Amino acid sequence: MSQSLKRQATLARSLMTRLNQSNTCCPHHSSGGGNGIICNNSFRSNTNSSEVADYAFEMINSTLRFGKGATAEVGYDVQNFGSKRPLIVTDSNVAETRAFKEVANSLTKLGISFDVFDKVRCEPSEKSMQEAINFSRTKKYDLFIAVGGGSVIDTTKAAALLTNNFDAEFLDFVPAPFGKGALPSKPMLPLIAIPTTAGTGSETTGASIFDMPEKKSKAGFRLRAIKPSLAIVDPLNMLTMPKNVAIYSGFDVLCHALESFTATPFYKL
Ligand SMILES: NC(=O)c1ccc[n+]([C@@H]2O[C@H](COP(=O)([O-])OP(=O)(O)OC[C@H]3O[C@@H](n4cnc5c(N)ncnc54)[C@H](O)[C@@H]3O)[C@@H](O)[C@H]2O)c1
Repeated sequence: MSQSLKRQATLARSLMTRLNQSNTCCPHHSSGGGNGIICNNSFRSNTNSSEVADYAFEMINSTLRFGKGATAEVGYDVQNFGSKRPLIVTDSNVAETRAFKEVANSLTKLGISFDVFDKVRCEPSEKSMQEAINFSRTKKYDLFIAVGGGSVIDTTKAAALLTNNFDAEFLDFVPAPFGKGALPSKPMLPLIAIPTTAGTGSETTGASIFDMPEKKSKAGFRLRAIKPSLAIVDPLNMLTMPKNVAIYSGFDVLCHALESFTATPFYKL
């Protein structure tokens, strides 16, 4: 086994041990996170108010299209949404890859004009997301296409939500303790998510995560309203992933899967 793989295996073992010893759930997926939308605790089978079990769970998914080469069809999806002014959101690395070129070609072939925002920051922060929001608020975009990993898709969700809720401030829809936990009055603008990594699942989730370095924390939007309208999962878009990105996004899948084993079941305390 190479040194690098040994390090990864040690890391996974220590993560398993920590998860086993932990008595709390992931703040982004547990039902106690002040979400009120994804995990609704308000109808409990148990009447004891000190208990927090749910009596049911719900899965709300984005429409997901999977297929080698499916990216080339995205222009038709843009037409089907009736969009006249789409914005492609990406980062400077992905902008050089096949995935981005396929999307741009597909739109160009159908005569659809579009703008590009390629300044997404890897591991986005409140500040970098605000930059994307400021950009998209300057024009009347009617559809967003996110081409990239979780960082791009999460940033695009924030931009699509806060562009349609023009007067809202960044933390308005973020749950406490960092945000106001308000519900948006308008839905996110339509979003087509085209992932180029294979780990976060952001193309189907109602979550958008960002760093708050000054608070030494990660926070996020967690709203049904930010589930992408369509996810196009094209394995060819993952071929250009750098080796480490492929490894770490694999670990993201592993961690999400481990969480299923370690989280308190919805019907128990
Ligand atoms: N919303 C959710 O449900 C959810 C879930 C888990 C993680 N996340 C978030 O996702 C982010 C991490 O996303 P990620 O792991 O997908 O990585 P990423 O989007 O941060 O990308 C990592 C790096 O890989 C590059 N890259 C991505 N795809 C590439 C490709 N095909 N070819 C060449 N370069 C490529 C990017 O330019 C970047 O430099 C974190 O901010 C995390 O908090 C969100």
